[in-house]
Amino acid sequence: MKDRLISLIDQALDTLRDNGTLTLPEDVRRPVQIDRTKDSSHGDFATNIALMLAKPAGMKPRDLAQALVAALPEDPVVARAEIAGPGFINFFQSAEWLNRQLDAALADPHLAVPRPGTAQTVVIDYSSPNLAKEMHVGHLRSTIIGDAVVRTLEFLGHKVVPQNHVGDWGTQFGMLLAYLEEQKDRESDGELSRELANLEHFYRAAKKRFDDSDEFADRARALVVKLQSGDEYCLKLWREFNQVSLSHCFAVYRRLGVKLGPDDVHGESAYNDDLARVVADLDAAGLLTESQGAQCVFLDEFKNKEGQPLPVIVRKADGGYLYATTDLAAVRYRAGALGGDRLLYFVDQRQALHFQQIFSVARKAGFVGAQVSMEHMGFGTMNGPDGRPFKTRDGGTVKLVDLLDEAEQRAYDLVSGKNPGLDDDALRGIARAVGIGAVKYADLSKNRGSDYIFNFDQMLSFEGNTAPYLLYAYTRVASVFRKAGLDMNETRGDFRLDHEAEQALAARLVQFGEVTLQVAEKGTPHLLCAYLYDLAGLFSAFYEHCPILAVDDEAIKASRLKLAALTAKTLHRGLTLLGLTPLERM
Ligand code: ARG
Repeated sequence: MKDRLISLIDQALDTLRDNGTLTLPEDVRRPVQIDRTKDSSHGDFATNIALMLAKPAGMKPRDLAQALVAALPEDPVVARAEIAGPGFINFFQSAEWLNRQLDAALADPHLAVPRPGTAQTVVIDYSSPNLAKEMHVGHLRSTIIGDAVVRTLEFLGHKVVPQNHVGDWGTQFGMLLAYLEEQKDRESDGELSRELANLEHFYRAAKKRFDDSDEFADRARALVVKLQSGDEYCLKLWREFNQVSLSHCFAVYRRLGVKLGPDDVHGESAYNDDLARVVADLDAAGLLTESQGAQCVFLDEFKNKEGQPLPVIVRKADGGYLYATTDLAAVRYRAGALGGDRLLYFVDQRQALHFQQIFSVARKAGFVGAQVSMEHMGFGTMNGPDGRPFKTRDGGTVKLVDLLDEAEQRAYDLVSGKNPGLDDDALRGIARAVGIGAVKYADLSKNRGSDYIFNFDQMLSFEGNTAPYLLYAYTRVASVFRKAGLDMNETRGDFRLDHEAEQALAARLVQFGEVTLQVAEKGTPHLLCAYLYDLAGLFSAFYEHCPILAVDDEAIKASRLKLAALTAKTLHRGLTLLGLTPLERM
């Protein structure tokens, strides 16, 4: 639609130029921009082209707008164009065009959202916990937001390659392996697995041993060296440990309904063999400087407060490699071997500088071609009700499983209160969808860049932009069909949208594709949340003003059923893209 309007305006501009109304200096470009209006009572689309060109053309904006509207070719898509304010042109789409779009969406499981001309390969780094410890709430955000963007990109027809860049390498593994070895000597297998069931405790116990005993600390250091030199025994211990830790992650993914599996794990250790080459290639590109024995890349664009250039250290004086070295290897692998057109990183905002540096070095070194985009999709911190980083009462990290357990239990209490008649299995199922959905939606509905406060009461409320509200909105639309014994896949007749509430709902429904495109482009699922929330509100207004089943006129009834069906399908699709589970009843 936007493209169509742009072409109409371009034609009008040509007409005005040809008949001498409009004279523009040679160097003035005239790219027409079309935007959606906020409020469809003022039209569906608007352009500021008359405001942009008035000055160079030496005309009053409103006069130019007037001339443009008069010169606009007839088109079945546009019902009329109006001038607003200082010289905006507002377009009202024709009912015929709207109806045609609605019918197309209703007839297509894909809701008539167009596939991209060329599908891209999008490599997405998300979740990426450190295996030395239990996954924490920071990884929750990455996992949930990343998953929603993965689903959206796939829906749009792109190829997604998930990369779970787990932290499975580094000095802390020496300490963990030394402790694992000790425990193995002492405990039977059963007790050891119990010990490992709580990685947080395991880590803390190992750390305590490390701090308390020099002998242990020496053993830990020696184990790292052996591990890094590829010692079979150490590797075996290390694999064993990682397997346990990863199984904890997979349990969380399963609970969350997130699509990450073993095949998506490509951790830091995967790049070990490549690190020396990365440093050598940086050297060959003339980017390396030695500073106090360490190998560094200095880039002019990164300076500290005193104006001194900041180094990206890629090899320490003792020969060890760093987080940055691994990420340089990873970025090259993703653009090269994986053939990524876009490389996305859903990682805490606090790592923004790290990624800017990596992207910049990678480009300069030629690791990533100019046509590949690298995008850090940073996110803020999840805070507790006190506005400080989320912690347990005793100040420890909150285990994700505990958090999800509590969410489900609270949801259970909530839904069992509302459905005294339902059997327990059904209630548990609903509680899972609502509880887990609430945690996910609370995260997804906020602009990812900002911090947010984790609040069970708020996220489980049936009012406002929450999962329970939206899940309920879907069941309500679905129940229209259930009550009438009708199948929402078998609607018929033509759209006849006479009531304002019908028109407003319809105009919003046809925007689904645009919204998903924005989510995919900017990595911002909150736009989809806001859209669905809006849709649910528009449906409520429609439902209130326009009786569906009780209306006498059969043609109007059929049209309203079609509108309800498309609302249900759009809500269902949208919720699924966000990784929520729509319910038929709740
Ligand atoms: N493991 C890191 C952490 O927990 C996140 C890794 C993000 N991905 C990356 N390629 N650096 O902070």
